Amino acid sequence: MLNWKPEIHAVGVAEMDATHEEFVRELNDLAHAGDAQFPHLFQALLLHTRAHFENESRLMRDCRFPAIDEHESEHHRVLGELALVGRGVAAGRLGLARSYVALGMPDWFGKHLVTMDSALAARLKTQPAAAPAPRTPRESPDRAP
Ligand SMILES: [Fe+2]
Ligand SMILES: [Fe+2]
Repeated sequence: MLNWKPEIHAVGVAEMDATHEEFVRELNDLAHAGDAQFPHLFQALLLHTRAHFENESRLMRDCRFPAIDEHESEHHRVLGELALVGRGVAAGRLGLARSYVALGMPDWFGKHLVTMDSALAARLKTQPAAAPAPRTPRESPDRAP
């Protein structure tokens, strides 16, 4: 079981921390869900994780994160795992999904947080000028190719 502890899990970038805290909450809800609620909550976790990763991709582009390819490739791998496990859930097989939620995902998240996500947070803190700026239609043509 994974419990959100800011002193351990926070990376110091507010929007990343808020997303990660929500991820841990959804993971815990799923771990405690009965069989009737499990499929719906698993789908919600999948959608939340997809949005989580898309947002990190945006942050990586905004700060020109050097390891963007490795980080996105890891996200892609995890989304593939979630989709695969989700197909089992949709077919009524919850056993693998329950162990993935209780062990696999918390283990992955703990490692990902202290490696790739921490590296991204460190980059965002040292590249404040490149931090996401409010977008307006006028800015779009100025983007470098
Ligand atoms: Fe993350
Ligand atoms: Fe990440």
